[in-house]
Amino acid sequence: MKVLIVGGGGREHALAWAVAKSPKLTKLYAAPGNAGIADVAECLDIGAEDIPAICKAVEELKIDFVIVGPEAPLVAGLADKIEAMEVPVFGPSAKAAEIEGSKGMMKDLLFKYGIPTADYERFDEPDAAKEYIRIKNKPVVVKADGLAAGKGVILSHTVTEAYAAVDQIMIEEAFGNAGDEIVIEEFLTGEEASFFALCDGERAIPLAGAQDHKQVHDGDHGPNTGGMGAYTPAPILDEKMEKRIMDEIVTPTVEGMAKEGKPYKGVLFAGLMIGEDGPKVIEFNCRFGDPECQPIMARLQSDALEMLLAAAKGELDKIKLKWDPRAALTVVMAANGYPGNYKKDTEIKGLAEADKIADVTVFHAGTKTDADGRILANGGRVLGVTALGDTVEAAQKLAYKAVDTIDWPDGFCRRDIGWRAVGR
Ligand code: AMP
Ligand code: GLY
Repeated sequence: MKVLIVGGGGREHALAWAVAKSPKLTKLYAAPGNAGIADVAECLDIGAEDIPAICKAVEELKIDFVIVGPEAPLVAGLADKIEAMEVPVFGPSAKAAEIEGSKGMMKDLLFKYGIPTADYERFDEPDAAKEYIRIKNKPVVVKADGLAAGKGVILSHTVTEAYAAVDQIMIEEAFGNAGDEIVIEEFLTGEEASFFALCDGERAIPLAGAQDHKQVHDGDHGPNTGGMGAYTPAPILDEKMEKRIMDEIVTPTVEGMAKEGKPYKGVLFAGLMIGEDGPKVIEFNCRFGDPECQPIMARLQSDALEMLLAAAKGELDKIKLKWDPRAALTVVMAANGYPGNYKKDTEIKGLAEADKIADVTVFHAGTKTDADGRILANGGRVLGVTALGDTVEAAQKLAYKAVDTIDWPDGFCRRDIGWRAVGR
């Protein structure tokens, strides 16, 4: 089977690495891939959002299955285009991807089907939004409706802060068109966790739970990032909680989407707040989390290609997943200065040594190879150093041992990934 993976980050390296182990695979391509993905796939010089070029490659290379990593091409309709070519694709249609692409649509769906989430109201003009904030007079969260690269969310503790958030999104247009509409919601408290389920349009099966660390510095300080590290399983998502999440959130969402005529296929990533009254949805994403996908793939013992194909073909009833019972933990190494300005093209050494350590895999998130075969940083988040261990603590120790063999003076990482689980 010839497979194309769309994307070029740590998530896509983890998917490529897992799919490459499948006996069903004959050839793997990536668009655009990165220096790590190039070890297991042929990288095509095609951007992940270049839908016409991707479709052309699918036809010319006679691709049998397409796996889409990032949300942007899904929201833009890549899966619809591939399906129209009668090639199976992992990832939701544009209509179904609205679950991530429009926060307002997502909230309306949750409300309609009685799925637990923060109370909310939608607005398309600032005065009404401010009136609502004034009357509520409580901490709220102001969100741009559309995709804003994970940045369109402003936590506001006071009315003044919330007014400023409305101005920033709707008047100053800090997130462009994504802020033409906004959602204002109740401020939830509790512990955050990420839950992943595979969906095939009709049914869903749980994949794994994980926790990531969004802030850039140790102790969860500093600005938010895409995620500085993650681990799975998350102790808060025990078997009982997993069952609640499937029964109260994932299954009703998949059934609701089918009833709305937008059957959901692919991975459903639920960002949850687990508080005193149980799990509530903060957000849905129509893709794997990054870095969460990296430790999850490290623990998957089933055939990843078979699993993703079953979701694409509506055949999830035919598979049963097998997991390494150990924990996995990923430490992200980022370029100095990230998430602000950072340098590209700095050399990274010691990767092969780190990769040689038993139970360690170094996923590449933003790298490239130069003409002399050197590995250079090519992004903000650059590596995902991933280790397995009997406990989160053991996995953490091994991951940092691997981090310390990597010689990259222009990069940094948090030193406390997994603290919540280790401290339990
Ligand atoms: P989102 O992009 O929707 O995931 O939001 C980014 C972050 O903002 C989340 O990971 C939460 O930490 C926080 N957040 C979003 N919505 C809420 C809410 N209703 N209550 C509390 N925190 C929230
Ligand atoms: N790590 C969070 C995300 O992928 O959105």
